[in-house]
Amino acid sequence: KNIAVVYGGDSSEYVVSVMSSKNVLQAIDQDLFRPWAVEMRGTDWKLVVDGEQVADLNKQDFSARYQNETIRFDFAYITIHGTPGEDGILQGYFDLMKIPYSTCGVQSSALTFNKYFCSNYLRNFGITMAKSVRLTQGAKIDVDSLVAELGLPVFVKPNAGGSSFGITKVKTKDELKTAIEGAWKESREALVEEFIDGLEITSGLVKMKDEALVFPITEVVPKNEFFDFEAKYTKGATLEITPARISEELTKTCQQLSSKIYDLCNCQGIVRVDYILKEGKFYFLEVNTTPGMTATSFIPQQIEAMGMELKDIISKLIFDKIC
Ligand code: DAL
Ligand code: MG
Repeated sequence: KNIAVVYGGDSSEYVVSVMSSKNVLQAIDQDLFRPWAVEMRGTDWKLVVDGEQVADLNKQDFSARYQNETIRFDFAYITIHGTPGEDGILQGYFDLMKIPYSTCGVQSSALTFNKYFCSNYLRNFGITMAKSVRLTQGAKIDVDSLVAELGLPVFVKPNAGGSSFGITKVKTKDELKTAIEGAWKESREALVEEFIDGLEITSGLVKMKDEALVFPITEVVPKNEFFDFEAKYTKGATLEITPARISEELTKTCQQLSSKIYDLCNCQGIVRVDYILKEGKFYFLEVNTTPGMTATSFIPQQIEAMGMELKDIISKLIFDKIC
């Protein structure tokens, strides 16, 4: 069976995607499957062999001609973070092509990639989160009323984005406007979020046909002001401790919460849920439905902490869907 590991994408997270795809490619069992790298940049879709673009993908059926063979893909492992791999767009294409894939479907991807929609949906189920205000590109920025409502500092984020691109921790009123405009460069909508002064916790899990695995959770202690891009992808820039040094009871609460969110959002495949833990309460931040798989990413670390290998899970995920 041919497996396309799809990477690239059209957001700032392109660079992260390239790294994630390499790890996933290595984790596909070559005794069971034939893994291929497929790069997607806008409408440029290429088969990549040994780092070289060797053929165009045929968009009519997602096949490629290579060395006198037409390669038809039986499965797509999506390692595109951000659009179009995490927001439902690519999922819609693969649904039309009848090619199974690694992530949740169109609706769940679209919901979870929109922080505002997802938070408001989950709030209905009693899940705790910071207060936030959404501002659409070009909206009037009323700094005084934002600060009156949310206090300072605040986090300004793109509503749809990842890897901390466009995120600013704003400590004074006069930085707020520039921060919002910065977030608009990444996403049509910006979120201004109340600052919860706590410990960042991240929790990965996967539910497969006959097995649910909730991984050990990780505590994130960045050396920078917050867990920004540099802290995320520079080795040693962040203290990442798995399992987190919190009580067994809190760990269980967090894992149960992640499992509940996974089900509420109709997730599939490997997912990571991020929180801030403050005074015994988990404040939901976001669901990542194509979480980072790079060497410094959490999911590989959490799987390892469980005594397993990424390889075991990825092969089983693919096997479940197509065999
Ligand atoms: N958006 C990045 C890749 C993550 O959540 O891991
Ligand atoms: Mg994210």
